[in-house]
Amino acid sequence: MHTSFVSLSALLSAALGAATPREAPRCIESLIPITASATNFDLSSGSAPPNATIPVSGTFPIQLRLCAPTTPASLRSKTLQVLIPGATFNTDYWDMSFEPETYNYVRFAAANGYWTLNMARLGDGGSARPDGNTIVQIPFGVAVVSEIVKLARAGSLFGTLGGIEKVVVIGHSLGAVILNGVVETVPSSIDGAVFAGFSHTFGPTNVAVAEWGPASEIVPERFAGLPPAYLTSLNATTRAAALYGAPGTFDPAALEWDEERKDTIANGELLTFAGAVPVAAPSFTGDVFMINGDQDGVFCSKPGCANLADEAQFYAGARSVEFNVISGVGHCLNLQFGAPKVYAAIQEWLNKHGY
Ligand SMILES: *[C@@H]1O[C@H](CO)[C@@H](O)[C@H](O)[C@H]1NC(C)=O
Ligand SMILES: *[C@@H]1O[C@H](CO)[C@@H](O)[C@H](O)[C@H]1NC(C)=O
Repeated sequence: MHTSFVSLSALLSAALGAATPREAPRCIESLIPITASATNFDLSSGSAPPNATIPVSGTFPIQLRLCAPTTPASLRSKTLQVLIPGATFNTDYWDMSFEPETYNYVRFAAANGYWTLNMARLGDGGSARPDGNTIVQIPFGVAVVSEIVKLARAGSLFGTLGGIEKVVVIGHSLGAVILNGVVETVPSSIDGAVFAGFSHTFGPTNVAVAEWGPASEIVPERFAGLPPAYLTSLNATTRAAALYGAPGTFDPAALEWDEERKDTIANGELLTFAGAVPVAAPSFTGDVFMINGDQDGVFCSKPGCANLADEAQFYAGARSVEFNVISGVGHCLNLQFGAPKVYAAIQEWLNKHGY
């Protein structure tokens, strides 16, 4: 009796996500050539015109890290979570080496029984960096992610991954802008869409406070030789002002860790993302979850991020649209003290909707 009680409670705590410590999952890291086409904007004037008119297509290697569950959970292992990082973040964002017991979402998801496909955007991390003005724009980035999701669902990205029945995509910031474009253009490929650090309206923080400059000049030790269209934030102070909550909401060591690993945003992404933010996705019929910190100055347009309550209008065909505002957290949710609350809220939503 005693033995069976222990094993049952162990099973239950695993199923409820209480399993600790969080071991690193087994992962396969690959550069997979992805072929996509889209209509990009003509940025020759230095800004985006109202409509996209330039057809682009190509095949580019994309960095994809597939990680296996560390806790068996038979139903959850049929759900794949695809993770997209925001501007100047890469695969580290969802899979941080800094205090991974606290901040690492990939480990959290693996401990809860899920496969994750953690990716770098085109022009970011280990992915290809083609022309940062003409190619790396939001429309083409949307096409690349759409293709990845389609291949992942079909089980044809990695030979080892079959039997995926549900796909949940989680995008942060610019990654959420891209996800919004994916659910607009190929609405049937995704079951659940989680938008983290995003909304369809802008808050008071202009992302320009990050003081973008050429990554090759700001971080020559890692980005020497990159064309000037690849940008990054100026320094830790401007980065924190744009992306973090108030002092006290994050560990300064986490900011330092992030500053040492910060990645790029392409000028083409920077010039085309604002136009992509207001886009509605009425044909998406899956579940939508919006999660922001209440100190997200980029996307909280009402006090306390109450604007998330207005988001359902953009997903008129969705099965469900829900939101959660985490207090004491700024824009880059994963790097702040509130990260575990963010992960718990996402898990609660996954549970509620049977993922
Ligand atoms: C842009 O597209 C919209 C909708 O298709 C159209 O009404 C508008 O005239 C276009 N604007 C320009 C400048 O071509
Ligand atoms: C970061 O850049 C800002 C703006 O140029 C400057 O005022 C500040 O002193 C810099 N901070 C550090 C730590 O270099």
